[in-house]
Amino acid sequence: MTVGFDRRKVETVRHDNTTNRIGSPAHDDLVAQDARHVLHPWADLSTLGIQKSLIISRARGVEVRDSRGRTYLDAIGGMWCVTVGYGREELVDAMQQQARRMAYFTPFGDISSEPAARLAAMLAELSPGDLNRVQFTTGGSTAVESAVRIAHYYHAARGRPEKHHVLSRVNAYHGGTYLTASLSGKEADRTAFHYESGWVHHLENPVYDPDNSPVSARERLDGLVAGMAAAIEQIGAEKIACFVAEPVLASGGVLVPPPGYHRAVLELCRRHDILYISDEVVTGFGRLGHFFASESRFGIVPDMIVTAKGLTSGYQPLGAVLVSDRVADSLVRTADPAKPVFSNGFTYSGHPVACATAIANIEVMTREDICGHVREVGPYFIQRLRELRRSPIVAAVRGDHLMACVECHVPGENGPTARNQALARRVDAHCESAGLLVRPYENLCILSPPLVVTTEEIDRIVDILAASLDRAENDLRADVIR
Ligand SMILES: Cc1ncc(COP(=O)(O)O)c(C=O)c1O
Repeated sequence: MTVGFDRRKVETVRHDNTTNRIGSPAHDDLVAQDARHVLHPWADLSTLGIQKSLIISRARGVEVRDSRGRTYLDAIGGMWCVTVGYGREELVDAMQQQARRMAYFTPFGDISSEPAARLAAMLAELSPGDLNRVQFTTGGSTAVESAVRIAHYYHAARGRPEKHHVLSRVNAYHGGTYLTASLSGKEADRTAFHYESGWVHHLENPVYDPDNSPVSARERLDGLVAGMAAAIEQIGAEKIACFVAEPVLASGGVLVPPPGYHRAVLELCRRHDILYISDEVVTGFGRLGHFFASESRFGIVPDMIVTAKGLTSGYQPLGAVLVSDRVADSLVRTADPAKPVFSNGFTYSGHPVACATAIANIEVMTREDICGHVREVGPYFIQRLRELRRSPIVAAVRGDHLMACVECHVPGENGPTARNQALARRVDAHCESAGLLVRPYENLCILSPPLVVTTEEIDRIVDILAASLDRAENDLRADVIR
């Protein structure tokens, strides 16, 4: 049975069928140009210049095609961002019409565009509590960074500039700008770059995995709250501006905190006048079955919510910070009358074409009740993935609705050791050769399919993954993984 969409009825853009076969000049030229000139985000520097990138050239529904004409089921969702699937005519039309009408004009000061104004009103409507003020940005990193800057402004304008320290967590990921990279707490990403450490602090990774935890959820929660309280005491609440947190830590390994964590932590923040910034760049826009997970899933109304990715289903780059009226009104009340300028934003903040795309995306998501669909298929996805725990090379399966990961290990060896990472890469490679793209990270295979995925496609994803795990286990036995 297929739950959810009948994609035969969905209008998608038409493709021409030209492909560039391997050995054809077009394909080889592209790969060579990429190797010669592109520095990819998170590039493996040991292969820079000789990398043989997969060049994705077409996409429709939940499938993408490479420049050689090979088709893959996309279990990455682009990069956590594809909600309504690829090639949706309505989104393409919205982009085209807005580009024709007015592609760009400055968003600075008191100039706006029709899509930005309309989208801001829609986001205020969708978001919880009094989060009614929207600052648009260009993506997730610029939105997280803007949220922290708003927290800085909020406290400084109220006469407390020393309240500028930021609390984050080990294994968090908040972006690739200087500040957001400093907030991120993934050890593997800490390389020769420089990071702010004086006023950025990382609390413990809050994961609670009922399958592998020696303590109860309650004990884990109490420990986490006590740890945070002690950190606040040690740093000094009078110095802390904000706490930045993904409701479920995404690329750090799909880490789900114990029940009650979000509420308890919000309470602690309120007690110490620390603003709570919920980074919903991944969890927002339906991935956990709601437009925003903060209140609907975790029962909290934070001071700010950050969104990006699924906001446009990945069709355009866009990010936004949703700010509570309480905080926004305070900025207005406390601004220096001689200099009442809110000096934060970007040339492409709330780009009209991106905002028009987001409006079309929200309209499609609402009409097709895509959040409801995720609430229906999400538990099935997790249940099917959990069957993979029978493989001896699976250490854990974690997830929530349509964000999940399979952690691989050589039996008896724990964590992201070199061999465990090589094993996970082997699983990814087998998946790719069988027509499934999963996202490799350390010893994890991360999965976040487009939200329109059906139960049949979920079965295909899990079946390919199961076969790839078996093949990798055989490789391990044959001692070809080092
Ligand atoms: C939770 C979270 N926050 C922020 C970001 C940064 O978003 P962007 O890459 O659009 O700048 C990401 C990106 O993966 C993310 O996962």
